[in-house]
Amino acid sequence: MKRMLASSSPAMVLLFMVFAVLVMLPEASAKRWLVGDNMGWNSNVNYSTWVKGKHFYNGDWLFFVYDRNQIDVLEVNKNDYEKCNSDHPLHNWTTGAGRDDVPLNVTRNYYFISGKGGFCFKGMKVAIHVENLPPPPKEDDS
Ligand SMILES: *[C@@H]1O[C@H](CO)[C@@H](O)[C@H](O)[C@H]1NC(C)=O
Ligand SMILES: *[C@@H]1O[C@H](CO)[C@@H](O)[C@H](O)[C@H]1NC(C)=O
Ligand SMILES: *[C@@H]1O[C@H](CO)[C@@H](O)[C@H](O)[C@H]1NC(C)=O
Repeated sequence: MKRMLASSSPAMVLLFMVFAVLVMLPEASAKRWLVGDNMGWNSNVNYSTWVKGKHFYNGDWLFFVYDRNQIDVLEVNKNDYEKCNSDHPLHNWTTGAGRDDVPLNVTRNYYFISGKGGFCFKGMKVAIHVENLPPPPKEDDS
């Protein structure tokens, strides 16, 4: 690798850098959050702790990975989130595969619970505050 870089022409290195920036750009503008990180969507995770310090922006995605036999993914309103009421979800994101993507495409609060297994009552719920993308850094064009 070292030898390869050393023998590359400056033009090649520049090309590589431009390519790297192009590849990184979409990553910077939309993030796909694996809910609970490597623990997934699971009754053993404290999701208020998981959410802490994170910034969710309009255009990001949530990716729920879980045991489809025991758990589901329901979007509910704030009141039902607090009461763990799964009787009238706003949206049932459960597709049946145990791997569900949820687009966070509106700047608002989202509330998710597992309606199955009574896990919500043990704390298996997550509230996501979605923010507008911050304005791009100002360019000094003087
Ligand atoms: C959610 O959708 C899944 C897949 O269609 C279905 O099996 C499940 O019963 C639904 N759950 C609720 C609470 O509507
Ligand atoms: C957000 O995504 C959902 C699901 O894909 C879609 O039904 C809805 O129209 C989208 N809303 C906006 C504002 O793009
Ligand atoms: C999650 O952790 C917070 C402190 O970070 C605590 O206040 C809260 O009670 C915990 N929730 C559950 C369901 O254990």
